[in-house]
Amino acid sequence: MSVWSIVVAAGSGDRFGGPKQYESLGGQRVLDWSLQAAAECSDGVVLVVHPERAADPEPAATVVVAGGDTRSGSVRAGLDAVPADAEVVLVHDAARPRASRHLWARVIEAVHTGADAAVPAVPVVDTLREIGGGTVDRDRFVTVQTPQAFRSSALRRAHAEAPEGTDDASLVEAVGGLVLLVDGEPANRKITTPQDLAAMRGMCGS
Ligand code: CTP
Ligand code: MG
Repeated sequence: MSVWSIVVAAGSGDRFGGPKQYESLGGQRVLDWSLQAAAECSDGVVLVVHPERAADPEPAATVVVAGGDTRSGSVRAGLDAVPADAEVVLVHDAARPRASRHLWARVIEAVHTGADAAVPAVPVVDTLREIGGGTVDRDRFVTVQTPQAFRSSALRRAHAEAPEGTDDASLVEAVGGLVLLVDGEPANRKITTPQDLAAMRGMCGS
């Protein structure tokens, strides 16, 4: 089965104060970690960048395309560049540099065994409270990560029929697809604020 990856890196990083995916981490850019993992785990890699950067050379990517105004729009731009015969498509946030190769392999395997979508999930460790309500049972919730893997037909249909969401598995679920949760990784955090990057630099060198 041919496997392609889309790495979305077209965001402006408003909460960070700039495009965090181009900051340095461990001797290379944040997004390079994801590009390397994607290249090792798939047959082709589509990198989605801000339109201003679409002409910049990115040797680790097979194709570079300009993203959209929303994350879902950027995924769609990437999907348009994935060959029609790709059977499995992964979508990964450039802002998550620490996803292990094992995690990439786990989500791909879950799609090979029949799921429309496979999503890494981690348990909630803090006490969870609803604003204006009370404490809720955290065992009923997980937080989800990327890379998420999809049967390509399911991802294409979801983006055609249910176009906006903060991740892609929720779109596949909205059109009736089977979404499987696999074990995520607590270290696979998304960089959202400067504090997230500082903590990560502390763990793996600047
Ligand atoms: N992303 C994208 N295109 C967009 C918005 C987001 O490709 N229009 C990408 C980001 O570059 C990031 C991933 O989607 O790798 C997850 O998004 P998020 O962490 O929200 O990043 P930003 O949208 O850049 O940050 P913010 O929401 O703080 O502006
Ligand atoms: Mg965002």
